[in-house]
Amino acid sequence: MASHIDAIGLAMLHALAAQKSAREVWWIQAARDGAERPFTAEVAGLLAALPNAHAHVFLSRPRPDDVYDSAGHLSGAVLRTLGLPSDAEAYVCGPAAFQTVVLAALTEAGVPAGRVHTEIFGAQPGLTPGISAKPGRPPHAPEGATGDGPAVSFVRSDLTVPWPSGCASLLDLAEACDVPARWSCRSGVCHTCETGLLSGAVDYTAEPVDPPADGAVLICSARPTGPVVLDL
Ligand code: FES
Repeated sequence: MASHIDAIGLAMLHALAAQKSAREVWWIQAARDGAERPFTAEVAGLLAALPNAHAHVFLSRPRPDDVYDSAGHLSGAVLRTLGLPSDAEAYVCGPAAFQTVVLAALTEAGVPAGRVHTEIFGAQPGLTPGISAKPGRPPHAPEGATGDGPAVSFVRSDLTVPWPSGCASLLDLAEACDVPARWSCRSGVCHTCETGLLSGAVDYTAEPVDPPADGAVLICSARPTGPVVLDL
């Protein structure tokens, strides 16, 4: 996991700690100095609760009393020395320019670009959830056999399709239909995929750590239990 100042990463750490996860976890943080590292004590406590956690902190302009691992900007040369697992899933949070740097550094360190998930914060163009700035193919029924499950309506996309029994999640179905959707963790933690559930009900493949707001659904890990209408 690579992070800048990272509320989503923090939520993921909380989730892992709550599960007492034994998976290998890396918390990699980059900041200018110790004053720009929020949540330091909270992160340290959560990492201490995980049996297989590691951390590495880059400070580009450390102050004399700051605690850190590497002085300077986050770099692939340093990441390479950490022994990050090549099958790691990396979650990167930070401004767009920072993400470009981190993606290059992770790739240099052996983490495939396809395993790097990003969450932008800071200055960026406005985004309307569920609406892509540059839609590709217009929304359409999924390829292959027609589903025989309950109707799933994507109202903004003016598309209703039957739920295919083999589909893993509403997000997977949206993607199969080229319905614009937003996501990051795909595991019910970050809430990036939270979408208005205008009618109907769902169940979850894994209960979210924090449930979505009333009238909303985390589409990355939900399936319909009957006809549903989504604000997508
Ligand atoms: S994509 Fe993170 S909760 Fe759904």
